Amino acid sequence: MSPSPAFTRGIEIAGVGSALPDRILSNKDLETMMDTSDEWIVQRTGIHERRVHDPDTGPNTTTLATDALNKALSHAGMQGSDLDLIICATMTPDMPTPSVSCLVAHHVNAGQIPAFDLNAACSGFVYAMNCAHDMIRSGAHKNVGVIGADLITRFIDYSTFGRASAILFGDAAGACVLRECDKPAKGLLAQSMHTDASRAKHLFIPGGKNDFFEMDYEERRVLRVQMNGPAVFKFAVSTFPKLIEETLDKAGVDAHEVHHYICHQSNARILTAARDRFGLPEDRFYINIGARGNTVSASVPLILDELTQAGRVEEGQKIMLLGFGAGLTWASSLWQL
Ligand code: UT7
Repeated sequence: MSPSPAFTRGIEIAGVGSALPDRILSNKDLETMMDTSDEWIVQRTGIHERRVHDPDTGPNTTTLATDALNKALSHAGMQGSDLDLIICATMTPDMPTPSVSCLVAHHVNAGQIPAFDLNAACSGFVYAMNCAHDMIRSGAHKNVGVIGADLITRFIDYSTFGRASAILFGDAAGACVLRECDKPAKGLLAQSMHTDASRAKHLFIPGGKNDFFEMDYEERRVLRVQMNGPAVFKFAVSTFPKLIEETLDKAGVDAHEVHHYICHQSNARILTAARDRFGLPEDRFYINIGARGNTVSASVPLILDELTQAGRVEEGQKIMLLGFGAGLTWASSLWQL
């Protein structure tokens, strides 16, 4: 992060919003679709149900993203026409082109502003928050809509063959409005972004039969999530604490000074392991995977919105956003609110 010498203002999270499909897919529903059980799913993941789109009636990634951004704008007391940039983190755009952000800019009446999608899988929203912050800090933008939106269940095989990933994922969108403000203390205290494609084959969605990393797979896996669950699990359990430590060190902040650790919701066991490692109480390391599942780039803003609506996010607090996912990618963003 290289602040513009001219930038003496702060950057605030002015509004937060989220959107979910109406349709609930419970563990009991999954029991009728594949060989699994509510008990197995709850024990291994902490998930009871997730929201999923209806392929016939929607919503789609763009409508969920628009809904979430409109709510964030309304929370900030702003309109689409106040935005001068939109970044949407997604790995499941409705179409290869145009981008989700381009369509959202149109739907919120933002005018002919720049808008682009960013793909860092489940780390995408955290990447997007860091980019948006630094683009404001450069002096180029003042009001940025940042979205995390994914309809990952488009790429799930709901048969026993695909059960290890079918039970994990749900659809959702979340959004923030970042705004330049006159309190210089507000903004990012530290950030980290990483990739490691030597482990890309642990979690990927092949686009065609040549995209299997030389693995001997059947063609029915094309356009379906391929995951080595135990390998991803191991990676996440060791990465979350390292990422937290790295970010605290960069900022010179103690773990207990952070009011909320807002982590990508991958699996309750991964999250409780990280929470226990730092001896943090449950109310600082909130877990909502039970009713949402793993919603890819939407999981971090969904939690931020839930905590905000519950009145638990206040000016003066420090919050850390954390993501990890396919790529492999991982990222953090430590904010002074
Ligand atoms: O956003 C990041 C994305 N991904 C993650 O964070 C995923 C991280 N990994 C995980 O959460 C876990 O690895 C899973 C929940 C995916 C799987 O749990 P696990 O404890 O690692 O199970 P496993 O893959 O080692 O499989 C153990 C057994 C196998 O049976 P056998 O070979 O022991 O007879 C699986 O076939 O559990 C079986 N199994 C299931 N059984 C019932 C796998 N999925 C299911 C299922 N229901 N849905």
